[in-house]
Amino acid sequence: MSIISDSLKRIKPSPTIAVTQKARELKAAGKDVIGLGAGEPDFDTPDNIKEAAIKAIQSGDTKYTAVDGTLDLKKAIVEKFKRENNLNYSTEEITVGAGGKHVIYNLMMATLNKGDEVIIPAPYWVSYPDIVLLAGANPIVVECSEEQNFKLTAKDLQEKITNNTKWLILNSPSNPTGSCYSEQEIKNLSQVLKRNPHVNILSDDIYEHVIYENFNFFTIAQVPELKSRVVTMNGVSKSYAMTGWRIGYAAGPKEIIKAIAKIQSQSTTNPSSISQAAAVEALNGTQDFIPIRSKAFQERRDFVVSSLNAINGINCVNPEGAFYVFPSCKNLLNKKTKLKSDTDFVQNLLEHANVAVVQGSAFGLPGYFRISYATSMENLKKAMDRIRNFCEEIN
Ligand SMILES: Cc1ncc(COP(=O)(O)O)c(C=O)c1O
Repeated sequence: MSIISDSLKRIKPSPTIAVTQKARELKAAGKDVIGLGAGEPDFDTPDNIKEAAIKAIQSGDTKYTAVDGTLDLKKAIVEKFKRENNLNYSTEEITVGAGGKHVIYNLMMATLNKGDEVIIPAPYWVSYPDIVLLAGANPIVVECSEEQNFKLTAKDLQEKITNNTKWLILNSPSNPTGSCYSEQEIKNLSQVLKRNPHVNILSDDIYEHVIYENFNFFTIAQVPELKSRVVTMNGVSKSYAMTGWRIGYAAGPKEIIKAIAKIQSQSTTNPSSISQAAAVEALNGTQDFIPIRSKAFQERRDFVVSSLNAINGINCVNPEGAFYVFPSCKNLLNKKTKLKSDTDFVQNLLEHANVAVVQGSAFGLPGYFRISYATSMENLKKAMDRIRNFCEEIN
């Protein structure tokens, strides 16, 4: 009899973490690998945030806190939703976990039963289907094509809803495509959701602040008729370059927020007291660096998209946010190149050109690959040269 549980056998380790690890190993072995696999900003955590953490340590803020977050942090989150999204929540409608991923994990564990379905538009963030599987429920993947900018349409949503649908997961700006839903597009989906009151919505807004050209960010909890069925997840990882601090949060109905705290009380207890103090400063302190960093990301996006589109065989949609692009390599999968799949493409790219990217099939849409451009312009220039040379050689 296997020591490993049946539920664990249903899932796979995160492919994006695997690529990052592989690139790290090759670098350690002396290879000049450029890693474009990691989903984290290359910027450092701002000094005012670091100082708040140091102060927390020095003033003895080093004990257990309330399970689902300190009152100070919950108040800062309430203020954030009011200030940035025009949404009113009380502190009882807020929960804090050890990263956004942890909050989503808790949410799914707290609400899903066997037989429940969760609609996940593809390409998706790699963890959604596996978390749903781990909770014993069924991910229902809806392919969203390049022609629709990788976004879910009202028609596709309607077709996938059954009596068993418990959640729809929306992620804008998106990992892996960078696509963002406009207010109108969210309102179109809302029409379907209003007709289906048994469907709850998880809105993953973690890339809210990585957005370009004054794109007007809109989140589905802003649709008044739906707010009571929406859990909005966000965090400090991407907006404040705090991936290692592990703080994520969510706002939603009290019943769900309480259930999440129950799970957390029997697993991690509270998130780190020091990271919570730092997150208070992140949310309440100056926000001045956000547009500066977004501008730097936008310059990189412009460079990467134009460089990729100049390569014979590669096509790349120009996205409105996040720090990812999701180019197609379909035109390079043929007899001449001897490449059969996106996985072949990324493996050969790593082996022969020393550039690490992630295959689209890991995100539920084969024929593509994901580039994270959260790295220096110098690295990006080198990487684009290598990708171009590789594609010319095989084509
Ligand atoms: C779409 C999406 N949601 C959630 C997360 C989780 O972020 P964290 O757990 O670092 O807060 C990530 C991280 O890569 C992400 O890309």
